[in-house]
Amino acid sequence: MRVTLKTERQIEKMRTAGRLLAYVHRQLHRALRPGMSTLDIDRLGEELIRSCGCVPNFKNYEGYPASICVSVNDEVVHGIPAPDRILREGDIVSLDAGLIYKGYHSDAARTWGIGRISEEDARLIRAARECFFAGISKAKEGAWLCKISGGVEDCARKYGFGIVRELAGHGIGSSLHEDPEILNYRTGRPGIRLKAGMTLAVEPMITSGKPDISVLEDDWTIVTDDGSNAAHYENTILITPDGCEVLSI
Ligand code: MF3
Ligand code: CO
Repeated sequence: MRVTLKTERQIEKMRTAGRLLAYVHRQLHRALRPGMSTLDIDRLGEELIRSCGCVPNFKNYEGYPASICVSVNDEVVHGIPAPDRILREGDIVSLDAGLIYKGYHSDAARTWGIGRISEEDARLIRAARECFFAGISKAKEGAWLCKISGGVEDCARKYGFGIVRELAGHGIGSSLHEDPEILNYRTGRPGIRLKAGMTLAVEPMITSGKPDISVLEDDWTIVTDDGSNAAHYENTILITPDGCEVLSI
């Protein structure tokens, strides 16, 4: 298992990678409207990333064909953008994006509503974000990794939402995926001890129904088995001596 600690110079690049990704997400959010295709979102996202002088890290990652993962309603993550997948009022859409700045990766996801959405969907979206903050609230040098997992789990339970178990957060740095794996639930094992200079992607994925998922025929899109909607909220963070810094907000 390889968990990397970043130097101050590397951290500066991670900060820039995170800040630029936050900008990309803001612009994508502003552009969302009914009638837009999921491919329109991907095109705009790739253009924004490249206009910052960065490279989309998802593109061609293990064969993934786009720059932005666009997942609608019961799609949890890894939806493939398509010209005939049109957003409609009342949909919820999860945008997962990442970029490389001077060799360093950032990774962040948001779920948004299109126009007016149901109260239950709005609650689901709020819960995913709250789960992230509950998870990182105990993250700091010397804390056990399981504190993050437990914080996410407790928050999702409080809402009564399902936690997707098959997918997890991860270390991030000069690679998109580094150790450790960051589960969104407790296992009974403490995991590693966090150190200042670790950079992590924490990413709760929650469902309004059962947490069980499947992969579609396209080999990428993850959907809930019961058809319930899902929300995803992710940021790249830096562990510090007394807490953590969220780099992609
Ligand atoms: N954001 C995803 C993650 O956290 C990465 C997407 S994988 C891709 O693991 F292949 F779809 F790009
Ligand atoms: Co990630």
